[in-house]
Amino acid sequence: MATPKIILDCDPGHDDAVAILLAARQCDVLAITTVSGNAPLEMTTANALLMCQLAGLDLPVHAGADRPLLVPAAHAPRAHGATGLDGPPRPDVHLEAASNDAVDVIINTARAHDDVWLVPVGPLTNVALAIRQAPDIVERVAGISLMGGAVGPGNVTPTAEFNIWADPHAAQIVFATGAPLVRMAGLNLTHQLCVGPSETAALRAQGGIVPEFVAGLFDFYLAGYRERAGLDAAPMHDPCAVLAVTHPELFTFGARHVEVETSGDVTRGMTVADERPGTDATPNCEVAYSIDAATALELIVDAIRSYG
Ligand code: BDR
Ligand code: CA
Repeated sequence: MATPKIILDCDPGHDDAVAILLAARQCDVLAITTVSGNAPLEMTTANALLMCQLAGLDLPVHAGADRPLLVPAAHAPRAHGATGLDGPPRPDVHLEAASNDAVDVIINTARAHDDVWLVPVGPLTNVALAIRQAPDIVERVAGISLMGGAVGPGNVTPTAEFNIWADPHAAQIVFATGAPLVRMAGLNLTHQLCVGPSETAALRAQGGIVPEFVAGLFDFYLAGYRERAGLDAAPMHDPCAVLAVTHPELFTFGARHVEVETSGDVTRGMTVADERPGTDATPNCEVAYSIDAATALELIVDAIRSYG
């Protein structure tokens, strides 16, 4: 398979940071775009730039939406700290964003290249704005491989996952694009791919700026999952959306019709997948149900270690 061309739309975020490192090794990353999510836009943009700086990646980072379409902005300091990348000592960031026009960059890149994958791993605001402004890009892109939602329990509420809950109206626009163009790595999938103390120790043992920084990120991230959920390992949510493009053979998918609850008092942000046997609902999404976690984990750890 040719190296896939992608735009990584992210809100770093510990697992977003790993997704950047993985994507840069496995894909032709045409742009990194940032969105308000785990932390305010200013921080998620600085964090994307920081990862590029540490890893020596010459990739354009474009800042995007600083708030969701309709609901107030919400962040995830419990999972990612106030900076969005709490944990290891934070170096000064010297790189600068290439622009504040993430939405235009998504549109222009999708129009200029054949078969670009959009890989959103934060709230879907930028992608929804791009689709609303330029519906033609839906036909231009190879697909949208997103981390978000859940077929099963949520994380921010009993029924909703953070990225969808944070901007449910944007998510609904993306899921409504039609065609099984959307690939969804939700919590039911991402909780199968976890890092734990042994991956952290292996990175630290190797040494080097990037592995040590990521080991520090994992310490913080793992401590949070231990405290909040009693887990000894923590899901690598966002790299799953990258791997669903680069290594789809590691996954099983099911074609489903998925709707996003935009306004329910207790179900806002829920991704409602029609799993009724014999349903005649037209699928609009390939839902990822399982992953070869051992192989996926190896790809992720190898990518981090490759930066030395
Ligand atoms: C998603 O929310 C964020 O906290 C993570 O970066 C991931 O994209 C998981 O619910
Ligand atoms: Ca994210």
